[in-house]
Amino acid sequence: MTGPHLDQPLASHMIVLAPMEGLLDFVLRDVLTRVGGVDRCVSEFIRVTNTLLPERTFYRVVPELRLGGKTLSGVPVRPQLLGSDPDCLADNAARVASLGADGVDLNFGCPAKQVNRHGGGAALLQDPDVLFKITQAVRRAVPAHQVVSAKMRLGFEHDNDAEACAQALAAGGASEIVVHARTKADGYRPPAYWPRIEDIRRVVNVPIIANGEIWNVQDALKAREASGCHDLMIGRGMITHPGLGLAIKQFDAAQKQQPLPWQELQTHIAVFWSHVRQHISRRHQAGRLKQWLNFLRKHYPEAQDAYLQLRLTNNPDDFDRWLNNAHLEHQHLYQKLRQQPNATPTWMHDDEDEAMFEQACA
Ligand SMILES: Cc1cc2nc3c(=O)[nH]c(=O)nc-3n(C[C@H](O)[C@H](O)[C@H](O)COP(=O)(O)O)c2cc1C
Repeated sequence: MTGPHLDQPLASHMIVLAPMEGLLDFVLRDVLTRVGGVDRCVSEFIRVTNTLLPERTFYRVVPELRLGGKTLSGVPVRPQLLGSDPDCLADNAARVASLGADGVDLNFGCPAKQVNRHGGGAALLQDPDVLFKITQAVRRAVPAHQVVSAKMRLGFEHDNDAEACAQALAAGGASEIVVHARTKADGYRPPAYWPRIEDIRRVVNVPIIANGEIWNVQDALKAREASGCHDLMIGRGMITHPGLGLAIKQFDAAQKQQPLPWQELQTHIAVFWSHVRQHISRRHQAGRLKQWLNFLRKHYPEAQDAYLQLRLTNNPDDFDRWLNNAHLEHQHLYQKLRQQPNATPTWMHDDEDEAMFEQACA
């Protein structure tokens, strides 16, 4: 067995923020990495069909590329590509690498019907040979100092080939593999099969990162135990509980866990809102904050109150008023905002997750 071992220093455990198309864009990445506890982000996927995408497409999805490939808090963002044509993926990977990304991630897990119909995402898990060809072509096209990583599910209809798929990715040159511990057929239905990650880890000679259904510190510990992985990728758990990365790190460092109080989180919501007001078209602004509140209300009763108060309005001015009232209540906390960089450059139920995903991919 050559994978990582849990007897390495706990402080080296990495938390990676999951890619989430239609939900976790540069705005939310900025805010969640300000909260802390995140070592790296993977961008939402950039779909590659049969053309070399213009630079502006990469900058639009990953504006952090204009900031040296990092969020304003200095956390690297790795762009993710989704496609099925090895040569075309290689050309696009070379281009995005040339824009200063720390590496390129390849998506082999997307369950969206539209993507799978075209042979992309999780559909590729039916053919380890194609996984190998894609990864090899991309590895050859990306300069050696930049990482090529991959994110996979356990399979498409079944998980029998999970090990073979991971081995193909590693043989093709992926130097790190995230495993979302479910098949495409499992969708987002709990549980995540963390022990299957351990099976993969035993036969693959590159670091493996465990992903799926980590909502709190206890889940993180159980996922590590069952998978044997140090490093975790977390998506919905971080959006619901933005202090989760910090809480896991505090546990690892044997420090007292400091919960992220609602009042402090509201300052982050204010930053989020100011980005949304600045960068997102007016008709989509209210929806963005309601979408986040919908996650937050699973962890914060105050977010539930706010959600109930605001869910029927689409007028951004109502959200301004709600945040202004919060501002008046918590003046001292808002002083913190002034010391932070202020602008970027330029739950739910599983069926809902799938619906959101399909919508984002349409
Ligand atoms: C709305 C939504 C969008 C997603 N978009 C992507 C994506 O662009 N690329 C990707 O590799 N995975 C994507 N995923 C999968 C997540 O990265 C992650 O693997 C999954 O949510 C399980 O992790 P979690 O339980 O920590 O959320 C998406 C998931 C959801 C719910």
